[in-house]
Amino acid sequence: MLFAIKGNICCSEDIEHIRCVENAYLVCEDGVCAGVFRALPERYAALPVTDFGDKLIVPGMTDLHLHAPQFAFRGLGMDMELMDWLKTYAFPEEAKYRELAYADRAYTQFADAMRRSATTRAAIFATLHVPATELLMEKMEDSGLISYVGKVNMDRNGPEYLCETSAQASLEATERWICETQSKFRRTRPILTPRFIPSCTDELMRGLRRLVEKYHLPVQSHLSENYSEIEFVQSLCRDSKFYGDAYDRYGLFGGDHPCIMAHCVHSGEAEIKLMKKNGVFAAHSPLSNANLSSGAAPVGKLFREFVNVGLASDIAAGETENLFRSIAAAIRASKLRWRLVDQKIYPLTVDQAFYIATVGGGKFFGKVGLFEPGYEFDAIVIDDSTITHPQELGLHERLERALYIADERHLCAKYVAGSRLF
Ligand code: GUN
Ligand code: FE
Repeated sequence: MLFAIKGNICCSEDIEHIRCVENAYLVCEDGVCAGVFRALPERYAALPVTDFGDKLIVPGMTDLHLHAPQFAFRGLGMDMELMDWLKTYAFPEEAKYRELAYADRAYTQFADAMRRSATTRAAIFATLHVPATELLMEKMEDSGLISYVGKVNMDRNGPEYLCETSAQASLEATERWICETQSKFRRTRPILTPRFIPSCTDELMRGLRRLVEKYHLPVQSHLSENYSEIEFVQSLCRDSKFYGDAYDRYGLFGGDHPCIMAHCVHSGEAEIKLMKKNGVFAAHSPLSNANLSSGAAPVGKLFREFVNVGLASDIAAGETENLFRSIAAAIRASKLRWRLVDQKIYPLTVDQAFYIATVGGGKFFGKVGLFEPGYEFDAIVIDDSTITHPQELGLHERLERALYIADERHLCAKYVAGSRLF
């Protein structure tokens, strides 16, 4: 599969700068980028070219953390803090996915929204139910995105209607689900998903560690999101020095396996140091952190200290899957944190936030988020012609405005690993 697309190509040049090339060609060879060219080299002279004219071509975005079942109630309950919000909104909704007919309706809507969005890669929480999780995986596979999907583990402190009956039952269901799905799909893979420490007994966490070793799977969970949650974890894990240390003691905090931790709003020096040492990815979720009054994460610090950071919508604590909104929210949150909390950590620039949304999270999936040769061909094409302006604007300015203003209605094409989705 050899082809090129043509347009205004914008992509990170390094962590500080976006580079925009006017009227250029992006060549795809077997799903992988072969480079950006101002004129097509001789060897590509016969290539089929799709010309997107004056539109903007940028790398696809990675959503490093979101909850598929919560898509149903996005925009509701945005005046609560985490623990009350879970009890009032998240748990009752997630319980409905025991019914496959409901899951089918809800996940069809979710997968359709993901297909139309700027997101090309995602790490997704399902619910504790195996049949509904497998259904979600089928729908994600059909959507064309490349994703990890996790059957959630939770065997304590949940409501009776959404709690596995024992660690053993949870582990057996998880192992069955892994065996059924690990080689079933081309684009969709399982990821171990202990909800967070308050939801998982020691026995369950130790069992999940055994599954990491047996099946070489990545792990995703939540970390240092909210004050009450952090206190709760400290009361449950008295020996741990901090929240991340508790995961690490179970062997579920990266190091020998890929690991995503959502939020990291209140991560201190020691936790950040351990994340860096273990290569843990922070899934920065600025919309969620504002909506649930969790706080403003030290994203500038994580970024500048070279901890892996990706961007996340955290549907439904974040109200939209549109990652452009999360880019703007990340910049805003970093500004408030700079002004109100820590004057030493400068706010994110647009170019840095763009890097986090594309390359930062993309790294969890391998060579993803750049148009350099060897990177997977994930691209979105933005038609910003309806974002009107009377004055001349450069390509960088047009992209900047699109990131603040555009949504899926401005996308006119999307490619994942070389396949065109629309
Ligand atoms: N912590 C544990 N579960 C959840 C969840 O569903 N959403 C968020 N934002 N945090 C959590
Ligand atoms: Fe979450």
